[in-house]
Amino acid sequence: MARTTIGIVLNGVTGRMGYRQHLVRSLLAIREQGGLPLRDGTRLWPELVLVGRSETKLREIADRHGLTEWTTDLNAGLARPDVQIYFDSQVTAQREKALRLAIEAGKHIYTEKPTAEDLSGAVELARLADAAGIKHGVVQDKLFLPGLRKLDRLVRGGFFGRILSIRGEFGYWVFEGDWQPAQRPSWNYRAADGGGIVVDMFPHWHYVLEQIFGQVNAVTAHVSTLIPTRWDEAGEPYEATADDAAYGIFEIDRAGQSSPIVAQINSSWGVRVYRDELVEFQVDGTEGSAVAGLRNCRIQHRSTTPKPVWNPDLPATEDFRSQWQVVPDNEEFDNGFKAQWELFLRHVVEDEPYSWDLWAGARGVQLAELGLRSAREGRRIEIPELQAEPSK
Ligand SMILES: NC(=O)c1ccc[n+]([C@@H]2O[C@H](COP(=O)([O-])OP(=O)(O)OC[C@H]3O[C@@H](n4cnc5c(N)ncnc54)[C@H](O)[C@@H]3O)[C@@H](O)[C@H]2O)c1
Repeated sequence: MARTTIGIVLNGVTGRMGYRQHLVRSLLAIREQGGLPLRDGTRLWPELVLVGRSETKLREIADRHGLTEWTTDLNAGLARPDVQIYFDSQVTAQREKALRLAIEAGKHIYTEKPTAEDLSGAVELARLADAAGIKHGVVQDKLFLPGLRKLDRLVRGGFFGRILSIRGEFGYWVFEGDWQPAQRPSWNYRAADGGGIVVDMFPHWHYVLEQIFGQVNAVTAHVSTLIPTRWDEAGEPYEATADDAAYGIFEIDRAGQSSPIVAQINSSWGVRVYRDELVEFQVDGTEGSAVAGLRNCRIQHRSTTPKPVWNPDLPATEDFRSQWQVVPDNEEFDNGFKAQWELFLRHVVEDEPYSWDLWAGARGVQLAELGLRSAREGRRIEIPELQAEPSK
């Protein structure tokens, strides 16, 4: 079958997300299926150029996967005329300057979140990208997870009636690193290196809430550093200067509802899991409720809602969990990162609409920034709309 190639520079492939989700599970998986089928019957074949700091690591990854193109010189990668897209999954603190270089080089941009360390940087990137006339996209993988797709389907189908409230619980125990190695990189726990659970997770909560329920208009947050000392990759102790727990209240304006929906989301790397999944959202509505995780979603309709009676003198008489119904898949769910890569590639080559762009990314950074300010100042903060003025 005829195929066209598209050159993609991948920066950050030695990292957790870059290697596993973006290289192996997305782009190599697209190659394994023979390329991405296009409208005209041809296939799009991603040609990959790996970029990073360590020649040894890049060569090792390239060899392992039969790839031949890699460089430790980002500018050299960006100067290649056969490259159309720049992808970034570096540590957050390195992202903005690399994205600026790629925009200057006239490449389309696809990037991990958060797009920048602060709002002004994130907005400037979006403006520069628009002014350069390039296409841009930001990873919003949670939207493509089966559990949240099913939740979105319930919302769009009108299952809930009037939506009353949302509660989210995200987290697990991240080992300190002394007697068992930590399962997340140490930069996540140092503020100066772009770490912190608010900067990491609020961008996710922003697009989940905005895309499924409505515009997020206010935030109130409390943040903590629960574990003050951790041990790094070399086994050395360091001070955890970033927040590792955040308790947020988000107010959402939803079309057709007269008062805002309140979403409370706990995010923590200092909790032990007594849940079915590492993140779960419970949505309660007048007509029914749902609990959605990464993969599964369960519902209870008003017609099957039991009538519990509060009586602490007696043991619970109902098995509450068994009273919920499983929402069926009804479709095949591919890896969420791959699904979004495919949409972005179609946006670039076939001009398909694509809304998860640097502006959406900037709104996520804005929520993180205002969430941190809310915690610092001990008050609720309203979220202004971002202005998409052209770059000066
Ligand atoms: N979408 C998601 O669900 C999700 C999940 C986790 C992380 N992320 C984002 O992905 C990005 C990478 O996170 P990760 O967990 O893969 O991190 P990681 O530490 O595993 O990987 C970081 C990558 O950046 C490179 N790098 C470049 N300059 C660096 C520097 N000065 N110091 C250290 N590393 C440097 C590393 O070599 C490596 O390739 C972050 O921005 C993070 O917010 C997204």
